[in-house]
Amino acid sequence: MINVEFHDSPSGIDQQAYQHVNQEAEASLRKLFQKEVEGREWLGWLDVLVGNSSDVDLSAIKATAKHLQSNSDVVLCIGIGGSYLGTAATLAASSSSKDNHQYPEIRFLGTHLGGNELNEVMDELSKQNPDGSKKRVSIIVISKSGSTMETGVVFRILRSWLKQHHPDGIQDRVVAITSKDSGSLRKLADEAGYQSFNVPDSMGGRFSVLSPVGLVPLAVAGVDIVSLLEGAREQAKHIQQSPKNVLKLASLRKVLMDKGFLIECLSTFDQECDGLINWVQQLQGESEGKEGKGLFPAKAFYSRDLHSLGQWVQEGPRVLFETMISVKTPSSDLSIPEDDQEDGFEDLANKPLSWINQSARNGTIKAHTEDGVPVLEIIIQDTSEKSLGAFFAFYMLVVGVMGELMEINTYNQPGVEAYKKEMLTILRG
Ligand code: PA5
Repeated sequence: MINVEFHDSPSGIDQQAYQHVNQEAEASLRKLFQKEVEGREWLGWLDVLVGNSSDVDLSAIKATAKHLQSNSDVVLCIGIGGSYLGTAATLAASSSSKDNHQYPEIRFLGTHLGGNELNEVMDELSKQNPDGSKKRVSIIVISKSGSTMETGVVFRILRSWLKQHHPDGIQDRVVAITSKDSGSLRKLADEAGYQSFNVPDSMGGRFSVLSPVGLVPLAVAGVDIVSLLEGAREQAKHIQQSPKNVLKLASLRKVLMDKGFLIECLSTFDQECDGLINWVQQLQGESEGKEGKGLFPAKAFYSRDLHSLGQWVQEGPRVLFETMISVKTPSSDLSIPEDDQEDGFEDLANKPLSWINQSARNGTIKAHTEDGVPVLEIIIQDTSEKSLGAFFAFYMLVVGVMGELMEINTYNQPGVEAYKKEMLTILRG
């Protein structure tokens, strides 16, 4: 389902150390499934994977999706970090939701505090459609805490705009996804009578893609959320019986970290995987970077970044290894055309573009490993909902095991509070 290949560099990893860590990883995975790990109160995502969760009410989600599909051309999805990255990753990768104009367009906002994008979006959505009709807009606002500055301020701006844009009322145009009974967003949603969904208390944002946080906007966009969940659950079941690849990835990351590698460059040659890398980057960065430990999850999109970062990767300090994420079957392909003008690429006529991309990938793996950059390859079968669900399940379990190997609490994020505290002191004294 999800395959892991390792291309070692000539200096090689210590096989004995690897075997030892692999055994520890096996014990960690067992403990994780038995919920005997630090931060066990945050394992609501595992309940979803093993099918014990009652928090996922698919019929309510589908009813809301149907409603927004019927009254909206555009849905503004407001949230930051774990409140949007899984959704954005699924939409960017998903083959079935592409080019499907029967569903509302989803726009992600609230991920920063700059004004340009917001002004542009409000200007654009205020303009009429070519047929003279008004653009029908709704909002899904997602914040577990309900107190996140970016989400709260952008929601306030867009809510105010939405009230002017739809003067007949916005009550049926706002869906809030937040904590069940705490926080200002919960209070606001209940008072205003907005449709709302709960983010389970036992689930941190970065582990919440398979909860209403991801499932509501994805269902609105026409993604088959039943298959997404099925793929995740089948993968979790498969891992319980055959954990080889989860153990391999977690163990290799740990062994490489212990060997002195500080940076894990998450790279891809497949556009479909770009959003998945953003999601992994957050999952790993926020879960593992603490107590003076952790690999820095960098990101590169190839072959574009081979013409910039590629130089650093090839010849910079030997502190970086790569985790390359690929799709075995790309969602679309092209054939290089014949042409009567000579341009130096005649020999490639009639060859698939994917074959050239694959050659670039294989060449890069060879060049990087030979120069001392170990490469881990993660291969997803395709970009169907089932495969994407499997990918999310696989990586959440890898990070759960890695946290155990590192002896940290994978599920907290005390470090992100520091900037918020300073910002609030500046803003409010
Ligand atoms: O993974 C996490 O917990 C964070 O990235 C949160 O998702 C992010 O900070 C947004 O938090 P909230 O949903 O409370 O607005």
